[in-house]
Parts: sequence; structure tokens; C-alpha cells
Amino acid sequence: MLQTLREQTSALHKEIEKDNTAGLIMDHSITMSEYKLLLLQNYLAYKIVEDEIKRFQPQFSTDKSERLAEDLILLNVDFEAPIASFKGDFHCNDEIEALGAAYVLEGSAMGGMLIARELQDCTNLASIAKHHFFNGDRKNVQGWKEFMKKVNSREFSAEETQKATLKAQETFLFFGKIFDYQPQFSA
Ligand code: HEM
Repeated sequence: MLQTLREQTSALHKEIEKDNTAGLIMDHSITMSEYKLLLLQNYLAYKIVEDEIKRFQPQFSTDKSERLAEDLILLNVDFEAPIASFKGDFHCNDEIEALGAAYVLEGSAMGGMLIARELQDCTNLASIAKHHFFNGDRKNVQGWKEFMKKVNSREFSAEETQKATLKAQETFLFFGKIFDYQPQFSA
């Protein structure tokens, strides 16, 4: 299952990595308003996908969207109004689809670790005392390890693997769609 998810989403990962505002963190050029936009986009995507996963996996952690909300509150960015525009655009219909979506959310923590490291050298963001989402905490990859353990501990039919893979691809596309949402922020 994991191998198929990885293979079938690697092109989408490359695509999203290329176009993402997070790239501006990697080269340290990001401005405060670009960072606010990145946090807002991530909040919308994580919150909506987490809520759908939770319908089938009630214990699924919503800690990523909660930490994004903390960052946004400190930066005075409204995230309640924009969520309404995307709320109905992503759905999981069963536990297997929720697993495909969870693959994308849990796996994304690895990129987050890399980004957190570079954030320290982004001089335009020096006034932010603490980053809650991109915090570089090793605990972030714990969810990924548990996810891998869980998936590797059971068998999936070809149909289930196919279904989870389609939902993982759709989750990447949903993130891509939200990354195209670019309201203007003042710094
Ligand atoms: C600039 C942004 C990003 C960077 C630099 C980045 C970087 C990375 C890195 C370094 C890994 C670990 C690869 C490995 O150790 O095998 C990874 C894995 C992963 N990333 Fe990203 N990533 C970014 C954005 C995203 C986004 C936005 C998502 C989801 C919407 C995402 C989803 C994943 C997934 C699911 C994996 C796990 C792949 C696997 O091992 O099966 N990434 N990323």
C-alpha cells in the first residue's frame, strides 16, 4: 500500500514542491505577507482534510490545523471567512479514502521539518518569536511513523489500494487548488 501511494503521488509531490510559497523560505527571501499567505493556505487545506478524515478516524490528530490557527491569530490573519469558500470541495467517503488522505497529511510533516530549519534564517520574519506550525519539533514526524506502522500492519486488497491512492492524489490536487488561492495581505 505505502509503496503504491508513494509511487503514484511522487509526480504530484514534485509539482507542489515546485510551485509552493514554501520555496521562498528555502531561499530565505520570504516576506511577512507571503508567510501569512502560506500559513493561511496551509490552514485551509489541513483543516478541511483533517475534518474529513476525522469522520472515519475520530482519533486522527487535528494538531496541525490547531498550530496553524495559533500562528494566524498571532499575526492577525482571519481564517474563518475564507474556509467557507472551500469547505465543500473535499470529501472522504469511507475509512480507506480517509487513509489515503491521511498519508498526504502525515507525510507532509517531513517537508515541514526542512522548512522549519530554514525559517530561522528568514530575516523578514525575525519579529515572530515562535513558529507553532513550522516548529521543527521532532514530534512532528511521530505521526508519520505511526501511520507507516499502522498501514504496514495490515493487508489491503487491490481495490482498497486503488481507492486510497486515488484519494491521496486528490488530496495533493486539493492542496494545489488552495495554493492557487492568493488573497492580498498587508505586511
Ligand atoms: C516546499 C515544500 C515541500 C518540501 C520542501 C517537501 C519536502 C519533502 C521531503 C524532504 C520529504 C521526505 C522524503 C523522504 O525522506 O523520503 C517529503 C515527503 C513527503 N511530502 Fe513533502 N515537501 C513539501 C511540500 C509538501 C506538501 C505541500 C505536501 C502535501 C500536501 C507534501 C507531502 C509529502 C508526503 C505525503 C511525503 C511522504 C512521501 C513518502 O515517503 O511516502 N509535501 N517532502
